[in-house]
Amino acid sequence: MSSSRVATLRWDGARLQLVDQRVLPMEERYVACANADDVVRAIRDMVVRGAPAIGCAAAYGVALEAMHLSSTHARHFRAGLDAALERLAGSRPTAVNLAWALARMRARAQAAPDLEPARLAQALLDEAHAIAAEDVAANRRMGELGAALIEDGTRVLTHCNAGALATAGHGTALGVIRSAVEAGKRVHVFADETRPFLQGARLTAWELRQDGIDVTLIADVAAGYLMSLGEIDAVIVGADRIVANGDTANKIGTYSVAVLARRHGIPFYVAAPVSTVDLSLRSGDRIPIEERAAAEVTGFRETSWAPAGIGVRNPAFDVTPAELVSAIITERGVVCPVNERELRRIAGA
Ligand code: MRU
Repeated sequence: MSSSRVATLRWDGARLQLVDQRVLPMEERYVACANADDVVRAIRDMVVRGAPAIGCAAAYGVALEAMHLSSTHARHFRAGLDAALERLAGSRPTAVNLAWALARMRARAQAAPDLEPARLAQALLDEAHAIAAEDVAANRRMGELGAALIEDGTRVLTHCNAGALATAGHGTALGVIRSAVEAGKRVHVFADETRPFLQGARLTAWELRQDGIDVTLIADVAAGYLMSLGEIDAVIVGADRIVANGDTANKIGTYSVAVLARRHGIPFYVAAPVSTVDLSLRSGDRIPIEERAAAEVTGFRETSWAPAGIGVRNPAFDVTPAELVSAIITERGVVCPVNERELRRIAGA
């Protein structure tokens, strides 16, 4: 995983090890997954999070289940695998990388209908390794392409964590920043804390500090003021799903940042691999938006600051309309202007 010390996902020879993103940076510990249900829990509970990372984890979940079932009769094996694919698909709804990775794993299994279980399990593990390796390669390429948009001395605002921790390595939005820094450019990052789960304060700030990249943490509500002072030159975020017209789902709060960026004439970039593009949906209002537990808003871990029983809405994502996105950086090229024709030209099959 890039130059960071901690690996987001690690195959230990028998199990999937996931760095526990619920407790970073206070604690660095790993959660071991031995079967698909361990991975379902890890995705649902945010041990692993970030669109590409949950896709990779789900792929390993399929492989683990195949290994687990490989001593059973071929018919039970196939039925068990299908059931695991269903459970994994239901773990989180918004990031399409999850469905994309599972479709690829299903296709790999279907392409070998006569392969005996143990050999198919090995083939599925190889496929999961390939998905993870391709994710890092895509991020590196996005980094190169995106770095060209970042001038020396740029002050960049980012929201949530679209870094190595959200991918198999290097990151998408943070990958662009890393690549720009690797190319010798000076970049200063403002990290939104990203209420309520604090991916910015806990994960982005930690990840960038580990790499020695200049980072300043701000409260989400400070972004507009800093823009009005002329302290932010560009915004770069990741994505959970980009639909055919370019509308983009990302962490809750992204839409507000995009509106502010437009108000202040600041470019708003989205960096995401093609596995995040869902051309089957026409516009952003079709994207399923996950609602998470009230406890994420009323407190953090053991601490609660809101009155007991208060009514809460906790949408985990919002949709930024394509018209507010200056460009989408993918590993196949930069989509600009952002419209259906350009998106299909670059990200279409
Ligand atoms: O709820 P999360 O932490 O999984 O949400 C993550 C985001 O919204 C990221 O910005 C997105 O997945 C892109 S990660 C490269």
